Amino acid sequence: MIEAHGAVLKYPDGTEALHPFDLSIAKGDLVYVTGPSGSGKTSLLHLLLGMLPPSAGELSVLGVQMSTARAGEIRKLRRQIGPVFQEFRLTPGRSSLENVMAGMRFLKAMDHSLKQRALVALDRVGLAMKAFVPIEHLSWGERQRVAIARAIARKPLLILADEPTGTLDRQNAENILALLTSLQDEQTTVIVTTHATHLLDMGRPSAHIRMDGGMMTISRRHGMTMDVNGGFA
Ligand SMILES: Nc1ncnc2c1ncn2[C@@H]1O[C@H](COP(=O)(O)OP(=O)(O)O)[C@@H](O)[C@H]1O
Ligand SMILES: [Mg+2]
Repeated sequence: MIEAHGAVLKYPDGTEALHPFDLSIAKGDLVYVTGPSGSGKTSLLHLLLGMLPPSAGELSVLGVQMSTARAGEIRKLRRQIGPVFQEFRLTPGRSSLENVMAGMRFLKAMDHSLKQRALVALDRVGLAMKAFVPIEHLSWGERQRVAIARAIARKPLLILADEPTGTLDRQNAENILALLTSLQDEQTTVIVTTHATHLLDMGRPSAHIRMDGGMMTISRRHGMTMDVNGGFA
């Protein structure tokens, strides 16, 4: 589902945010990405979302070759991805339901079936009773759950969550990570960047990517064994 060989991300100003890396993520994996601020976590997610092409090397995401993909291909790819941002990116003045439906604008289905799908997604994050409540009336933890509902209502193959726990207290952070990891199944790959390193055993993680100054160290867990990179934090 994601394959990188010697991929590099250099911003136009010359900053090499991601040094050459190899990466292989399979369908249904749950991957945690950790590392200090400025280490390249968001840059990695931006690369996977096709916001920038790799500056060198090869990267394919859901079969799309990111270095040569046309704008139309990237648009199609993004429809299969459910992004969740640290700062939620919800529209104020709109209800939870409207915000979740906004994530499905590209679908051509009838309005009532999209509404149904949005309500199912809100129910899945435990917010069915807040469907018609304006976003401003929700707590931070609830807003992040709406953002996750918006991502899952799209029925994405890949969920990319960028520090979804960053603005939450410990208990809410734990709830959000538990929710995100519960979305992983055979069809759905989940990649989460987080500072909450004490929660990294949540769910059934397949790999842990540690970022440091644009360098990645990847620990994999295949079944019960750990790889030579050693401990799985
Ligand atoms: N648009 C940009 N242009 C130039 N440099 C950037 C840009 N965005 C991020 N960077 C730099 O890339 C590096 C990695 O940033 P980022 O991926 O945001 O890290 P993290 O998400 O781990 O905090 C940092 O040195 C940052 O300053
Ligand atoms: Mg970041």
